[in-house]
Amino acid sequence: MTRHLRSLLDLSPAETNRVVDLAADVKANPGNYSSALAGKSVAMIFAKQSTRTRISFEVGLHQVGAQPLVLSTSGGTGMQMGRGETVEDTAKVLSRFVHGIVIRTFGQEQVDGLAEHGSIPVVNALTDLYHPCQALADLLTIREHLGKTEGKKLVYVGAGNNVAHSLMLAGPRSGMDVVVACPESLRPNATVLDRARADASKAGTRCAVITDLAEAMTGADVVYTDTWVSMGEEEEAKRLMKILDGYTITEQVMASSGKPNTIFMHCLPAHRGDEVSAEVMDGPRSVVFDEAENRLHAQKALMLLLMGGASWS
Ligand code: CP
Ligand code: NVA
Repeated sequence: MTRHLRSLLDLSPAETNRVVDLAADVKANPGNYSSALAGKSVAMIFAKQSTRTRISFEVGLHQVGAQPLVLSTSGGTGMQMGRGETVEDTAKVLSRFVHGIVIRTFGQEQVDGLAEHGSIPVVNALTDLYHPCQALADLLTIREHLGKTEGKKLVYVGAGNNVAHSLMLAGPRSGMDVVVACPESLRPNATVLDRARADASKAGTRCAVITDLAEAMTGADVVYTDTWVSMGEEEEAKRLMKILDGYTITEQVMASSGKPNTIFMHCLPAHRGDEVSAEVMDGPRSVVFDEAENRLHAQKALMLLLMGGASWS
């Protein structure tokens, strides 16, 4: 059966753990995987901008012997998808040429459609709804800095967006409590929240949404934030910045965890002075650049598992 990463709903807790275990091994022993996907090609479609995701996928695929094809949806090198070719036809055509698809786009339905109509693995490299590759790298980063994810409390501060949604699903898959601290009007998607809560209850973890930042922060092992204005929301920037005023992660907010070793994470790109102060972003508790590096290792592991370069068990 063709496996995908449309969202973390495609991974069980054991499979999530397997990706993170393999990512750690890929990081420690990259040479062992240098020809694991030799002769394979991957179409990487980007309808939104990217620094970390595009570069880490492109470099990572090269490092495991595969050929990455970086494609856009507009301009002279853009896919016909950008001017109306259907997702269904695109999926069928790409399935004849390449062995996998990585896509960053707006609507989740495009990722789901490529998976449904093609015959090759499809990976969500960010949609308006989810950012699962980010969450996988984040689990590796938390494990490296805190020893394990089990029993830890991650507090996500900001808008209930794609990154928040993926972290909410990552919690129960890694034994971690996830609390989203956000203004009432920027709560996470209700369907994703219901699913995350159901998964958490099965896993014996917690998923909560709290508007009061101080209350959410108590006992945090990880404090996580994201840009206040996501790609595609530029026209709403002013409104969002106003609503999120008061949710900036400062030294004082970090201290309110009550724990001396709380780490600070951010998927990046960061906006110092908005969602995080420069002191926290560039301070000793910040692990953001390890987090960025881990995108490479986690995605290499993911592609190995999805494309037959490593086994799931
Ligand atoms: N964190 C992340 O996905 O970064 P890019 O937008 O630069 O890919
Ligand atoms: N929420 C952000 C994440 C960027 C990596 C966005 O969608 O723009």
